[in-house]
Amino acid sequence: MRTTQRKTLPLGLLFAGSMLLAGRAAAQDVTTIPVETQHNAIVLQTDAEKHLNMVYLGAKLANTSEYSRIQKMYKQADDSGVQNDVYTPSGSASLGEPAITVTHADGNKSLNLTYVSHTVSKVDDDISLLVVTLKDPVYDFEVKLYYKTYFKEDVTEQWSVIKHNEKGVVTLNKYASANLNLKGNTTGGFWLKQYHGNWAMEVQPEEARLTHGIKTIDSKLGTRANLYEHSMFAISLDKPATEDEGKVFYGAMEWSGNFRVDFELDVANNLKIIAGINNAASEYHLKPGAEFTTPAFLYTYSDHGKGDASRKLQSWARKYKIVDGEGSRLTLLNNWESTYFDFNESKLAGLLKDTKKLGVDLFLLDDGWFGNSHPRNGDNAGLGDWQENKQKLPNGISSLVKEAQANGVKFGIWIEPEMVNPASDLYKAHPDWVIKQPNRPEKYFRNQLVLDLANPKVQDFVFGVVDNLFTKNPDLAYIKWDCNAVIYNAYSAYLKKDQSHIYVDYVNGLYNVLKRVRAKYPKVPLMLCSGGGGRVDYGALQYFTEFWPSDNTDPLERVFIQWEYSFFYPAITSSNHVTDWGKQPIKYRVDVAMMGKMGFDIVIGKLSENDLSFCQSALKNYDALKDVIWHGDQYRLASPWDNDAASIMYVNTDKSKAVMFNYLVNNRYGSGSKVPVRLKGLDPNKKYRVKEINLYPGTGSVLGNEDLTFTGDFLMNVGINPEASAYHTSVVLQLEAI
Ligand code: DGJ
Repeated sequence: MRTTQRKTLPLGLLFAGSMLLAGRAAAQDVTTIPVETQHNAIVLQTDAEKHLNMVYLGAKLANTSEYSRIQKMYKQADDSGVQNDVYTPSGSASLGEPAITVTHADGNKSLNLTYVSHTVSKVDDDISLLVVTLKDPVYDFEVKLYYKTYFKEDVTEQWSVIKHNEKGVVTLNKYASANLNLKGNTTGGFWLKQYHGNWAMEVQPEEARLTHGIKTIDSKLGTRANLYEHSMFAISLDKPATEDEGKVFYGAMEWSGNFRVDFELDVANNLKIIAGINNAASEYHLKPGAEFTTPAFLYTYSDHGKGDASRKLQSWARKYKIVDGEGSRLTLLNNWESTYFDFNESKLAGLLKDTKKLGVDLFLLDDGWFGNSHPRNGDNAGLGDWQENKQKLPNGISSLVKEAQANGVKFGIWIEPEMVNPASDLYKAHPDWVIKQPNRPEKYFRNQLVLDLANPKVQDFVFGVVDNLFTKNPDLAYIKWDCNAVIYNAYSAYLKKDQSHIYVDYVNGLYNVLKRVRAKYPKVPLMLCSGGGGRVDYGALQYFTEFWPSDNTDPLERVFIQWEYSFFYPAITSSNHVTDWGKQPIKYRVDVAMMGKMGFDIVIGKLSENDLSFCQSALKNYDALKDVIWHGDQYRLASPWDNDAASIMYVNTDKSKAVMFNYLVNNRYGSGSKVPVRLKGLDPNKKYRVKEINLYPGTGSVLGNEDLTFTGDFLMNVGINPEASAYHTSVVLQLEAI
């Protein structure tokens, strides 16, 4: 390899100057492209054959001219095809797991991609876009790699745009969003933290050292894609990173359908990460001149452990991704667990009064309000027929919205517009709108089938479900969007010969609908739900204000579930409801729900006087603290996996206010907080008054009446003992600078 340094183009420096810069490599020159954010860098570099390689991912170097010297330090290259291509093609000289596999118009399956040029543009002070163009020297085939970097947040979104001008259709057999290479420069190897789960058991973590060969995490469920696995993961370098120490890379697909992430540890101990849409049964046919744009793969990196990486992702999500991430949210009372399908107007009138009495902002009417020829009185009928059930709601939704207003609360409603029950008018009217194999028996998931969102007419229908609700009820204030089935027997009557497009076109069809919803209703709160947390990803969340982490609302389980989601998602997105699941007292249930976007799903009338008054005063405390929880920095202080009590805190930006949640998670004899828990993120020089809040009526603070004023220095070096125990199973501490 020649080492002539023709260009070293640090994005950070370029941004300070010109808005757009293009580079073209002359013969035998080496082009080095560092992609920098505040603390990190990725370095791309051409080799003698004009292949663009990723030679570095890690902390950014002080001296940018040294980026071009990195590759020379590695003595791993040989003729075996072990390479670090920036986007690994297949069927030519790269023999690792491919990012892209194609069948050219003439049937040939080889692809070679060489560097042609790149441009850098600055979107604003924080965001920049690098576009790298790669081409096949033999075929008229091109891939553009997009790196959208968020400088302050150290976050990158990466995607690819694929195009050709061959004399016929090219089949894309695999088409990843991103291909990253981590250099094998350590003996400790790479540690993958991944998530699996099931209904009511979402986000179960596992962490293990990657061995040589390929490890894949994927989903082939079509919809409800995260039911069993998540595309979100962490890779620690050398050893598993802790909250505050260690090098760690976080990644996740922004895609709500089938995904696939390959981790290939090669013979020279380099780790290749290839993330994208799952290509299983999904070859994509691309006409000449057409573009295929992959979804984005999102990532960040930290030299300071998992806590720092999480805070980067959380603040990026609030600022740039989720709807109204820096805004406010509504507390609510939901009726799912208190009524299931069994309600009528008079029952709802009572619940609307309860909403007011409790002191939350909104009443959310769940499943069961629709269907007439096939009333939705259970989960076996009615999906698709989005007209009010005349028996249950003779005066329609509009009268409920008015009744809510008369009670001084807002009204929201549940829908599941992507789905259909065979027992419905919709199914009979439009059998061709339903995903099912023409020649095979139907297979149901929760008695239902999925509508074919690849079909624009179905997209119009689904958009219409939302639009009609808002048009008829302009004061409707909230929608819970559910999705309870996976795709069995994938077949689209609309796609005809392009059946292998179904999984991809479905998700793009869904996004088209959500884009239309957002264009017309930009800020209305939407909850993303999928039979619990079956669809939690930033591809969907860019249209939603919050998500439903799990139907499992047992607060003990929720401590773990909410803990794990927090590695990727900010508290403001996590809808946490107080329900009757679990054996914990109301205080514990409320304290756990408070660690996010709080709601209730209990029968208010059945609460004892003390329980009700506790909930009402906890809501007042929440009101005073929600800004810190929703928009502050989160610190995971004590893990529920390793301790008798879990501790989590949130601190506001100027470090003047904080809240610390502590939950006993072990019931064995003598379990509890034995040692102080060190706080984080405070100002060492400030003095903080610590006060226990959410006290159950008639009880005093577990911390007694002594002076609870400490310096930030003390709280961060010595800590505070929250005294969680069998007698005080949850303890919430508020900190205010004085
Ligand atoms: C599944 C959701 O996760 C629940 O919260 C509830 O809305 C039901 N669907 C309704 O069918």
